[in-house]
Amino acid sequence: MRPLLFAANWKMNIGPKEARAYLKTFRSLYQPHAEREAWFFPPAVSLEVVAEGTADRSDFLAGAQDIYWEPKGAFTGATSAPLAVQAGARATLIGHSERRHVFGETDEDTQRKVAAAFSNGLTPMLCVGEKLEQRDAGKTIDVVQRQLTGALGGLDREALARVIIAYEPVWAIGTGRNATPQDAAAVHREIRDWLTRQGAARTRVLYGGSVNLKNVAELLAQRELDGVLVGGASLDPTAWAQLVQTPAN
Ligand code: PGA
Repeated sequence: MRPLLFAANWKMNIGPKEARAYLKTFRSLYQPHAEREAWFFPPAVSLEVVAEGTADRSDFLAGAQDIYWEPKGAFTGATSAPLAVQAGARATLIGHSERRHVFGETDEDTQRKVAAAFSNGLTPMLCVGEKLEQRDAGKTIDVVQRQLTGALGGLDREALARVIIAYEPVWAIGTGRNATPQDAAAVHREIRDWLTRQGAARTRVLYGGSVNLKNVAELLAQRELDGVLVGGASLDPTAWAQLVQTPAN
């Protein structure tokens, strides 16, 4: 069995009350599996509930969906890394495509956020991925490498080994349209090559974008994938428990 990470990105869904009920259902349906982890990225208001509701399990983890790089101060609406840690986060998404394309986040922003995550002991999960027009123009690899270099270029190999990368083609997120397992694996190999050139060949690389109960098995059949980052299909605890238990070798 190879180790697999299943990460749930709840986006702007599931408040604290709903999160309590969600975890109760999920925990009643999901039995621990060797080498398998389930991570949860709830909205900031539900972080503490999810952290507390998963604290007893070493195969579960709660993380923030985003952090701001300044540690504190007059930044209305933002969550700093220290605040996320205080709520129980142990990881954070960085540079999710919705942060990049809805909120205008730049590669420079992602670099600052990665640094803030590390200075506060949070595992950064960096999301990268190309838009449809970039894929059609044959620019997928250029875009992904630019995002990797922009966010992670300055890290030493020990730090890079602790980062997690999530490759999520923008055109596949929330659209029901997903990359073929072979397309996903091809980009994963490029990311792996980039990591290897930086001396961090074993950094985990997940796939995301309309992953669901129907397609997860064939995606996980690609050995290049170390797991999946899932939005829509993680919102129902019954389906998510089933998805995390999908057989793979
Ligand atoms: P999706 O979202 O599974 O709903 O496509 C994935 C993500 O944005 O992380």
